[in-house]
Amino acid sequence: MKMELRFFLPTNGIIWVTFFVVRFCCSYGDLSYSLPEEMERGAVVGNIAKDLGLDIKGISRRNARINLKGSRKRFCEINSQSGDLVIADIIDREELCGSKVSCPLKYELVLENPLELHRILLQIQDVNDNSPRFPNHDIKLEIRESAVKGARFPLDEAHDSDVGRNGIQNYLLEKNQHFTLAVHSNPDGGKYSELVLDKELDREQQHELSLLLTAIDGGTPPRSGTAIIHVTVLDANDNLPVFSQPVYRVSLPENSPSGTVVVTVSATDADEGANGEVTYEFSRISDKAAMLFSIDRVTGEITVTEQIDFEERSEYELRVQAKDGSGLASNAKVIIDISDVNDNAPIIHIKSLVNPVPENVTPGTEVGIINVQDDDSEGNRQMHCTIQQNVPFKLNPSIENYYSLVTTDDLDREQFTDYNITLLATDEGNPPLSSTKTIHLFISDVNDNPPVFEEQSYSAYVSENNKPGSSVCSVTARDPDWRQNGTVFYSLLPSEVNGVPLSSYLSINGDTGVIHAVRAFDYEQFRSFKVQVVARDNGSPPLSSNVTVSVFITDENDNSPQILYPTPEGNSFMTEMVPKAALSGSLLSKVIAVDADSGQNAWLSYQIIKSTDPGLFTIGVHSGEIRAQRDISESDSMKQNLVISVKDNGQPSLSTTCAVYLLISDNLAEVPELKDMSYEENNSKLTSYLIIALVSVSTFFLTFIILIIAVRLCHRRKPRLLFDGAVAIPSAYLPPNYADVDGTGTLRSAYNYDAYMTTGSRTSDFKFVQSYSEDALSAGNTLKKTHDNGDFLDLTDNGSKFSTLVNTF
Ligand SMILES: *[C@@H]1O[C@H](CO)[C@@H](O)[C@H](O)[C@H]1NC(C)=O
Ligand SMILES: *[C@@H]1O[C@H](CO)[C@@H](O)[C@H](O)[C@H]1NC(C)=O
Ligand SMILES: *[C@@H]1O[C@H](CO)[C@@H](O)[C@H](O)[C@H]1NC(C)=O
Repeated sequence: MKMELRFFLPTNGIIWVTFFVVRFCCSYGDLSYSLPEEMERGAVVGNIAKDLGLDIKGISRRNARINLKGSRKRFCEINSQSGDLVIADIIDREELCGSKVSCPLKYELVLENPLELHRILLQIQDVNDNSPRFPNHDIKLEIRESAVKGARFPLDEAHDSDVGRNGIQNYLLEKNQHFTLAVHSNPDGGKYSELVLDKELDREQQHELSLLLTAIDGGTPPRSGTAIIHVTVLDANDNLPVFSQPVYRVSLPENSPSGTVVVTVSATDADEGANGEVTYEFSRISDKAAMLFSIDRVTGEITVTEQIDFEERSEYELRVQAKDGSGLASNAKVIIDISDVNDNAPIIHIKSLVNPVPENVTPGTEVGIINVQDDDSEGNRQMHCTIQQNVPFKLNPSIENYYSLVTTDDLDREQFTDYNITLLATDEGNPPLSSTKTIHLFISDVNDNPPVFEEQSYSAYVSENNKPGSSVCSVTARDPDWRQNGTVFYSLLPSEVNGVPLSSYLSINGDTGVIHAVRAFDYEQFRSFKVQVVARDNGSPPLSSNVTVSVFITDENDNSPQILYPTPEGNSFMTEMVPKAALSGSLLSKVIAVDADSGQNAWLSYQIIKSTDPGLFTIGVHSGEIRAQRDISESDSMKQNLVISVKDNGQPSLSTTCAVYLLISDNLAEVPELKDMSYEENNSKLTSYLIIALVSVSTFFLTFIILIIAVRLCHRRKPRLLFDGAVAIPSAYLPPNYADVDGTGTLRSAYNYDAYMTTGSRTSDFKFVQSYSEDALSAGNTLKKTHDNGDFLDLTDNGSKFSTLVNTF
């Protein structure tokens, strides 16, 4: 075997190419060459002529040519001049034979004349003309971070078109923390590599690695190709969601409107994708809180859904769970402090109340206890309670929020019967809230007011001879107390008037205060008296006051003038001696008369109504002085009689007459029989009739009495009664000022009074008896016997009053 080693210097001058052509003998055919691929055109592979031992001329002459079996390309040609086999086309072994180690090109050399066939075998030798090449420059690997140490990840095999030693010999991996490289041979040749995990990956630390992988062939010099391994660390759900805070503490004002965001919790999950998708929910929550708050599953926003009341609860503790896509969860606590808003007005409670309050409580008396509550807290809970100014009450703060309602002043039910006390409670919130409550407090009565008369004193004017039972005057006392404490009763304070109990004169209507006369008054008996009226209320104890009522009795003309002189009585007639020499105007005598009445009723006037010698005498109209009107002369009759009327000035006026006997003489011896001068008046007849009548009636009555007594005596035979009956007759002469009032003070229908003339000793000899009976009136002129205090005589006359002069002879 012959071997040639030739070096070609490429004309392009860039790369030095070393190759060699080896001729093998007789292995395939006649001629065999071994030559590197990629020889330049024109490069001589060998000299066929010489190698075959052929004549160079014969080659050209015999039209030598080569045919390549089964290929359109020829690659080589014979230079017919030199017999060299030259490269006609660049032979790319990799194209021609791929990865086959042996790459023969089989030619047939045909010579004509004579036909001669030689086989020429060109063995194409590989040249390291290809670098290893990875199918993709970027190798993408996704490795789960959970991959354990030692895990292997096959890598793309790099490809090198070259074969044999020029093929890939090794792989190199960029130095890194996590991976090493394991290189393996394929059973069918070639090498491949695997990434071996040397240290676990943490996606959360480094989620991507880029490693440079180099494939190196065995050429000389070696060629290499690189690829970048992009390792994407795939997430393993190895991370819990983590809340940004373990505890969220927030403050939320109560009454925050629905929708208010309370807090947004947020949890992050270092994982990726679904593993890192966090959703939120409440994990532990009270039913109440569940009604009040809601959480947004996605955003973690906790919002208010219902009205929150601080007073109900001031703190809510919720647990929020954050869960990632594959169910890993963690919890955080959310503490919501509800802050107070002043939304509760104070509430006033009346714990106790004295109602009604007696009006006599002393100032400072506690009448009620007030309690004020406010559901809010702190400042919103602080409050003060006041009442309005214009009432006599105040609030005294006591323990806590208790107040006592005390009086500040004396109460007077008579002034204010009730009070509306308005309590105002205000808290110290901002804005403050307040509430009011009104206590309607009544003041109860205490009998603290005595009855008070409307006037300091009363005067009553009653005309005498009034009708018994007629009202005299009326007093009124007021008592401002309540009900029986203010009910006034009137009464007369017992006393005596002229030694007679007052009740005989007056009575009072206890309810109305109207004072009535019990009997008729006689001005001539007394003109005035005072009575004390007591007004007493019905309280317990009762209060009373008294007032003086002065009763003035006014005069009526009920008394005729009474002549004192000349004495109208006696069996010897008074005669005035008139001196014969009496001159005109000289005072001769005087008629003296009195009238028990007063004033006009007692203003007397005198008048001569009849005289023996009219014109001789005059009488002073008011003085009663009888004077000579002219000088008395001898011719005048010695005996002069005058009838004088004395008249009072009442309405109507009453009058009395009297006779005056004048004897014009200087010597008493001259006086003739005085008896002749006895009654000659016109009216003396009437008086006589009356006397006769009275005497006959009296006689009849006495007879009647004696008869009755006699009858009684016959029945009882008791001498004492005879004596009683005997003294009953003079009892017609009643004691003065007699009045009969029965025990109850009511006015008797029948009454009597006697009136005395009080002028002079002589008047005691006679007496007027006046009797009056209304009952008797209807019966006409009757004799009436009254029973109570003995029997006496009533003489009545229908109509006018009747006066009787009883002469006691
Ligand atoms: C208090 O209030 C009541 C009812 O509102 C009323 O009838 C009464 O007259 C009031 N009293 C006073 C003293 O204002
Ligand atoms: C009258 O006053 C008394 C106390 O003096 C009292 O106890 C009583 O209740 C009062 N009566 C009325 C009706 O107010
Ligand atoms: C009448 O009233 C006066 C004072 O007003 C009093 O001093 C006197 O005691 C009273 N008299 C009677 C009997 O009550």
